[in-house]
Amino acid sequence: LREEARRSIAAADRSDQLKELRVKYLGKKGEITAILRGMKDIPPQDRPKVGSLANEIRGELERLIAEKEKELDERALEERLKREALDVTLPGDPRPLGSVHPLSAVIEQIEDIFIGMGFEVAEGPEVEWDEINFEALNIAQDHPARDMQDSFYITPRILLRTHTSGVQVRTLRSRKGEVPVRVIGPGKVYRRDEDDATHSHQFMQIEGLVVDSGVSMSELNGVLLAFARKMFGENQQIRLRPSYFPFTEPSAEVDISCIICGGRGCRTCKGTGWIEILGSGMVHPRVLEMAGYDSEKYTGFAFGMGVERIAMLKYGVDDIRHFYTNDLRFLRQYQSV
Ligand code: PHE
Repeated sequence: LREEARRSIAAADRSDQLKELRVKYLGKKGEITAILRGMKDIPPQDRPKVGSLANEIRGELERLIAEKEKELDERALEERLKREALDVTLPGDPRPLGSVHPLSAVIEQIEDIFIGMGFEVAEGPEVEWDEINFEALNIAQDHPARDMQDSFYITPRILLRTHTSGVQVRTLRSRKGEVPVRVIGPGKVYRRDEDDATHSHQFMQIEGLVVDSGVSMSELNGVLLAFARKMFGENQQIRLRPSYFPFTEPSAEVDISCIICGGRGCRTCKGTGWIEILGSGMVHPRVLEMAGYDSEKYTGFAFGMGVERIAMLKYGVDDIRHFYTNDLRFLRQYQSV
């Protein structure tokens, strides 16, 4: 019996066979168990010998089964590892990668430049109160922009914002007369324009606002010059031309010199040698007062630039519609920008 059991345990190569053998010899009705149970039929003088031999065999078989079990487990694990092995040197499946939209990339570059000069980024809603978009910016009731013809009105008092300048108002109101204020506000704006190569009914602006004691026009000039040089090359010049906005006084339109250095080296643009990139000016005292700032104590400047225009200049894009039609041949050119 002992020999037979040893042999069959050694021969077992699956765990279910081993289980069967355990039942066969050591189970409740197993052969060894039967011998131990049958002690009462054995003459008393033989019982110690038979008993200890049976126990010895039981112990040995238990040990053999346990060892075999371990061996089988290890073998199974090894086989599984072999089966599931990955060859990490195989070439992978290339996944097509998307990229940041050129307008988002330009906004990020502009934000970084102004953050470097101590500005914070603020945002306002695209659906805006007429009161914030116009009234609080000193834009009179009869101003042409307030015509249904020029703006997308949703209700008589609510419209799609026509510029990001409402962010000036929202920022000042939330700061409750505190200075210094240094924010830029990027976002989408909407105007009832016919779409063509240079116009889009929806486009993006970045607003800038600085309010503090003793802020002057020369600081506006300095900040914008620093911006222009970081954005378009260290040799950039800027030029301020007198202009008019109801919410700034004095107002200026700002041009950059027409040698533009961007992603693809430097280019000159056609025309007068200057090209306009933004509107700006000293915040109108009435705008400060309406937003709860003492205009005797504090002054400020503001500017608003068109993101598409800057992106077009920087990357030599000739049609604003490229930004919105999502032609992959266009977008892929900006994958590394
Ligand atoms: N909001 C003006 C525009 O849309 C630009 C501007 C911003 C001008 C801030 C002056 C100050 O054209």
